[in-house]
Amino acid sequence: MRDVTSILPLHVDGVCFAAAGRNLVDAASFSVPPGGLTVLLGPNGAGKSLMLRLCHGLLRPSAGAVRWASGAGGRAKRHAMVFQKPIMLRRSVEANIAHALAAAGHSGPERRSRGREALARFGLSDRATQAARLLSGGEQQRLAIARAWALRPELLFLDEPTSQLDPAATRQIEELLAGLVAEGITVMMSTHDLGQARRLADRVLFLHRGRLIEDAPAESFFAGPRAAEARAFLAGELIW
Ligand SMILES: Nc1ncnc2c1ncn2[C@@H]1O[C@H](COP(=O)(O)OP(=O)(O)O)[C@@H](O)[C@H]1O
Ligand SMILES: [Mg+2]
Repeated sequence: MRDVTSILPLHVDGVCFAAAGRNLVDAASFSVPPGGLTVLLGPNGAGKSLMLRLCHGLLRPSAGAVRWASGAGGRAKRHAMVFQKPIMLRRSVEANIAHALAAAGHSGPERRSRGREALARFGLSDRATQAARLLSGGEQQRLAIARAWALRPELLFLDEPTSQLDPAATRQIEELLAGLVAEGITVMMSTHDLGQARRLADRVLFLHRGRLIEDAPAESFFAGPRAAEARAFLAGELIW
């Protein structure tokens, strides 16, 4: 049974991440309510990956805090993350999913039933026994999403999930993500791809040089962002 208490909204409160004497993420504050797809947009080096890792708990803020509405900790976390380059174990497709479920503390029967369900949901059933590392890039990313989905996250983080993929595979992943949102999963993903942000975002967080400089509904952001840096980014000007 699913817990009735939601871990959302997620509150990011004055979060900084310092390295080499510099704030690579500089006092970012925002919230993620349940539902919809938030795009973390910005040029290379803006701090998007760092921000996602801070939110997911892979990095500790040097100042500020990441807070969840109710206990998101513990072994079976209710937020999951998909990385830019899929990390596949040198095992079969189904074993990759089973391993993630085992790490989250699920029993053998639960691993098998959730595993089968995830493979079917993401069209990977006929690949179950294949070596995960022999899948195409697009299929590996699909498996990475299936593996995250099997954990039944309320919030799914994805870091530039299509940056290594060709246009056809990109389109497939985008459709898949829209499906997850329709299913009620809250999605927060980074991209530097404006077209993708336009196609997917309900809301845009625009990041520049580690600072969150705009937080707006996608419609108004693309109609005309308030921040000069965001306008320059939309115009295709280099702003780094
Ligand atoms: N652990 C780290 N130590 C020092 N600098 C880092 C570290 N991680 C990232 N950076 C730097 O922080 C900046 C933001 O990185 P990143 O979050 O990867 O940007 P983005 O994902 O938006 O391209 C970059 O200048 C990067 O080189
Ligand atoms: Mg990045």
